[in-house]
Amino acid sequence: MKPINIAIDGPSGAGKSTLARRIAAKLGYVYVDTGAMYRAIAYYMHTKNADSTADIIAQLPNLTVSLSYGEDGVQHVYANGEDVSDKIRTPEMSMGASKVSAIPEVREFLLDTQRSLAKQTSVVMDGRDIGTVVLPDAQVKIYLTVSAETRAYRRFLELQEKQPDSAPSYEEVLADVIQRDHQDMTREIAPLKQAEDAVLADTGELDLDQSEALLLQICKERLQT
Ligand code: DC
Repeated sequence: MKPINIAIDGPSGAGKSTLARRIAAKLGYVYVDTGAMYRAIAYYMHTKNADSTADIIAQLPNLTVSLSYGEDGVQHVYANGEDVSDKIRTPEMSMGASKVSAIPEVREFLLDTQRSLAKQTSVVMDGRDIGTVVLPDAQVKIYLTVSAETRAYRRFLELQEKQPDSAPSYEEVLADVIQRDHQDMTREIAPLKQAEDAVLADTGELDLDQSEALLLQICKERLQT
């Protein structure tokens, strides 16, 4: 039987990973976090002091990025066999991932791995270009969105809790969110945009359980037709 492919795209902070992981668990599919793959590349390039685009491209043939899944279904990402899953979750690696992801050779490098995973097994894959570039034939495409103001406000509350003395103001967080959206949406290669056949899901007014229910409903409807 042909594997089912569910593509979820959307801006940073819209809750893609949490929701993609939850619906994958509900449906019994594999969750593929493509952002983690870009982060693993950023981590490897950092260890090699590869900073310029030319150096990054030159290092790519020395790198293998792979994924495996623990018994609990949690995705682990590896750079040349080293489990970097925890090391990639830092602000520095977010910046690094954003930078490497704008290099066409880097995107090309990950494309085969991403597509072959989706060919082997049913997946919920999240990212920025899954419905538009990586899996244009995905049976379900969802563009998950939440207004910049709401994403900024949620992030602001998170930061206040984490670092009450040094948290940035809401206005600063909002400016950052707007700038990141702009970068993602206007980059030359594989910009973030809604695929023509994607269903728009605005979860700004919904809590996590309601958002999950909405996404599962979209999947059900799409998979029936
Ligand atoms: O989703 P994330 O924050 O872990 O993604 C890290 C970076 O990788 C982010 O700057 C966007 C980029 N990315 C991308 O360009 N294409 C994808 N399919 C996934 C992530």
